[in-house]
Amino acid sequence: MKILIINGPNLNLLGKREPDIYGRQSFSDYYQSLKQHFKNHQIDCYQTNHEGAIIDKLQEADGEYDAVVLNPAAYTHTSIAIADSIKAITIPVVEVHISDIKQRENFRQHSFITPVALHTIMGQGLKGYQTAIQYLIDNL
Ligand code: DQA
Repeated sequence: MKILIINGPNLNLLGKREPDIYGRQSFSDYYQSLKQHFKNHQIDCYQTNHEGAIIDKLQEADGEYDAVVLNPAAYTHTSIAIADSIKAITIPVVEVHISDIKQRENFRQHSFITPVALHTIMGQGLKGYQTAIQYLIDNL
């Protein structure tokens, strides 16, 4: 399978950013082990701090990839535009959150993405990306 991971704002700071919540490993380190784990599949990765760039990438991925694993970060809780773009494309999107957003502040507990995602994984740390990819492999 060909899967694109899209990471939203501040996820370029993983390892340094609030390590008690998001852990001490950088995404680039984790990504190497993830690619090794799924070496029979193509796993690409894109990170941006910009909402419109997430939408552009979702639109570009349609037809290019079999599925997207998306952590929209804070845009999860605000972005009708990202939810609309997930509805507009034909490939499935699995939503991932490193932390358990249901156990955090009230403003994090609502996701605009969950109703339009094929599946949502949260609270597994970085391992959630592996779970999401395995879910796609098992279910598509
Ligand atoms: C996050 C949770 C969001 O609430 C937060 O804004 C993030 C990361 C997570 O992976 O746990 O940036 O999506």
